This record gives sequence, C-alpha cells and structure tokens, in this order.
Amino acid sequence: METRQVEDANAFSARRVSPMAEFGFHACLFVFCTSLVITNAQSQISKNHAPLFIFGDSLFDAGNNNYIDAVLKADFWPYGETFFKYPTGRFSDGRLVPDYIAEYAKLPLIPPYLQPGNHEYTNGVNFASSGAGALVETRQGRVIDLQTQLSYFKNVSRVMRKKLGDAEAQALLSRAVYLFSVGGNDYLFPFEENSSVLRTYSVQQFVGLVMGNITTVIKEIHKMGGRKFGFLDMLPLNCLPFSRASLGGGGGACFEKVTPYAKLHNKQLPKLLRKLQSELKGFKYSILPCYSFLDQRIKHPSKYGFKVGEAACCGSGPYRGILSCGGKTGVKDYYLCHNVSEYVFFDSFHLTEKAYQQFAKQFWNGKPSISGSYNLKALFEFN
Ligand SMILES: *[C@@H]1O[C@H](CO)[C@@H](O)[C@H](O)[C@H]1NC(C)=O
Ligand SMILES: *[C@@H]1O[C@H](CO)[C@@H](O)[C@H](O)[C@H]1NC(C)=O
Ligand SMILES: *[C@@H]1O[C@H](CO)[C@@H](O)[C@H](O)[C@H]1NC(C)=O
Ligand SMILES: *[C@@H]1O[C@H](CO)[C@@H](O)[C@H](O)[C@H]1NC(C)=O
Repeated sequence: METRQVEDANAFSARRVSPMAEFGFHACLFVFCTSLVITNAQSQISKNHAPLFIFGDSLFDAGNNNYIDAVLKADFWPYGETFFKYPTGRFSDGRLVPDYIAEYAKLPLIPPYLQPGNHEYTNGVNFASSGAGALVETRQGRVIDLQTQLSYFKNVSRVMRKKLGDAEAQALLSRAVYLFSVGGNDYLFPFEENSSVLRTYSVQQFVGLVMGNITTVIKEIHKMGGRKFGFLDMLPLNCLPFSRASLGGGGGACFEKVTPYAKLHNKQLPKLLRKLQSELKGFKYSILPCYSFLDQRIKHPSKYGFKVGEAACCGSGPYRGILSCGGKTGVKDYYLCHNVSEYVFFDSFHLTEKAYQQFAKQFWNGKPSISGSYNLKALFEFN
C-alpha cells in the first residue's frame, strides 16, 4: 500500500515537471524531499506511464458531441443516470468501455478533446464522436469524422512536443494505447438514408473504403510514434433494436441487408492488422470480438446476468428501437425500464454500462481471440 502511494506521487511529479528536468529537481526538493533518494526510480515510473487516446463513434464518445452541432447527443436525462448521476454526453446509463479501460490501467477518466479548458494530455484524450464513421461522407457536418479526429490528435502531439520536448513526447506517444471503435455508422447510415452508395459500390468495395481510411489513420499515428492499437470489431448491426425498428420496414425482424458489411468488416479488420504488424515497426494490436460477444448476450441474456437481450431499456417502438430515449429527438413519449441492469441495450443503439463492463473486462485481460494479438493489459505493459 505504502509503495503504491509513493509510486503514484512520483508518477505525478514526474509527469508534471518533466518538461524541464532542472525544475523537476527543484520541485522534488521542495515538495517530495523523500523522492530525492530514488531519482532513478522516478524516471523509471515515468517510463512506464502509458496514456490512452480514444477514437471513433458513440460507443466511445465521452461528450465531444456536446460541443458541436450534432444530431446525435446524449446530454440529457436519463443518459448517465446510473453512474455519473448527470448526462455527460455518453450514450449509456453509465460508463463506456474506454472508461473501464482507463480505470484498469490506473488512469483517470479520459476527457473529451472538445471539453473547454482541457489541455492536459499526458493521460491521453478522447476524440470519439457519436455518429461518426471512417468515411467523411457519414453524417458529414454533424459529427467529427475520423480524419478530423486525426487532425486533432496531430494538434495534441504538437502541444505535447512543445511542452515536454521531442524525446519525451515521442516516448509517451510510443507507450500510449490507441483505441478505436469505428465503421458501424459507415454501414448503417447509407441504409438510413437509402443512399446511392448502396448501389454504386459492392460490399467488397465499400468495406475496402472503410479499411483504407482506417489504414491511413493508423499509419499517420504510427508515424507520430504510436505503436499499440486496440480495435472493437463490428457489432451484429442487423439485430440492434434500431435496425429492427427503423430499417427494413420496421417490422421488428433483424435487418439482414447490413449483415454482409459487418461480416466482411470482421474478416478484413484482423487481416489488415496482421498485415500492418508485418509492415510497421513495433506495431502491436488488440481486437475485441464484439460480434460474438454481443450476439451471445442478445440470444442468451440470462447466461450473462441479464433478463432482456433483444429490446432496449429506453426508447419507443418495436424493441424500443426508435431512438427516442429522453424524449428530445422528435418523439416525446418513450419507455424507460425500472432496472437497467437487467438489460443488454440501454437505448436503440447502445449498451448498458453493465454490458460495457463485461466487454471491457474481456478486452483488458481476456484471452486474445487471434494469434499474434494481445489483450489490452499486455499492450499497456509493453515498453
Ligand atoms: C490545438 O491545441 C491547443 C491547446 O490544447 C488549442 O488551444 C487549439 O485550439 C488547438 N487547435 C486545434 C486546431 O484544435
Ligand atoms: C431506395 O432508392 C431506390 C432508388 O432510388 C428505390 O428504388 C428503392 O425503392 C428505395 N428503397 C427504399 C427502402 O426506400
Ligand atoms: C477513404 O474514403 C474516401 C471516401 O470517403 C475514398 O474516396 C478514399 O478512397 C478512401 N481512402 C482509402 C485509402 O481507401
Ligand atoms: C435489478 O436486476 C438485477 C439483475 O437482474 C438484480 O440483481 C437486482 O436485484 C435488480 N434490482 C432491483 C431493485 O430489482
């Protein structure tokens, strides 16, 4: 216990003062006199500190959409009701996967990039935006698309270099873990809009565009020092309450037209990551098989401690699949369940914090699903 506290105090001082080594030494003299005797240990701890950078969509958005002209916002009750007790902008009753990952990695909650006053990046930052995809066309103008998220990250890396110096910033960016949840909106949005994209591109071509854009982003982050990447694979998009209620006529059946996209995505993504591992220096990755994970919980909720797998806790229409939780998006009347922890889905797209926690545990220290990949605990521990 004692050691833990000393380590934390040192990690803190090392992070705060490392921009100027001499200043760090002075601060140490005045504030942490005891740490003088373990100056080496101090830099050792700093060497183990790995930030968490988060990219993607509403599965990961911790509130960036609160600050843009977004259609998809969760800044009203009952979002956040279980854990935070106020709406943070997260599409859930409580925490999301990256919140748990930060906790397991002994990091604080990682703030949204657009949150005013947030310029402290040594623990990482969250760029994810609800509704966003890998393609700029996906809800263009109403989300922060992946390319823009990358440009924000470039800014962060610039700020870090200025503050910490090139070497220190580079080291931190190399130890950092980069988490992604992206692609779901690219595949669902064209069906929502009945977009001509569905007729212009084959499934193969369209998934290729998504993979191509993901590749660009990974390569750019790798160029700036990034080495450790974690991905969610594609959810069973066909059986989300939203897809049942709002796509394919709204009769309540799973919407099978989107399935080939999700399935191909889940074939291509591990292939891509394996390829990048052979091409990019030091590249390591983790992948969470969300498809089977969620599919199992939808079909057999009681096996995993839930009562309801198919319908959402909050919303209206068949399976509560009409996105109306909170009554702020056109539809005023909606249903809210009494006991959130009985449900896999919180609203028509998104999961409850109980389900996210199960995902996060598997992501953190579960057995990697693909040979050559790691769990996130291992990624954080690599130096
Ligand atoms: C870059 O980061 C700085 C400091 O966090 C911020 O003031 C500035 O607005 C950012 N610029 C862009 C383009 O995001
Ligand atoms: C989508 O658009 C195509 C071409 O404009 C049209 O033929 C088709 O009926 C539309 N489908 C739906 C579900 O509205
Ligand atoms: C990225 O997506 C755009 C469409 O938004 C496409 O034109 C481009 O070719 C894609 N890039 C790659 C490398 O596949
Ligand atoms: C809510 O549901 C969970 C899981 O089924 C159960 O353990 C708990 O006792 C329930 N709480 C209430 C107040 O009914």
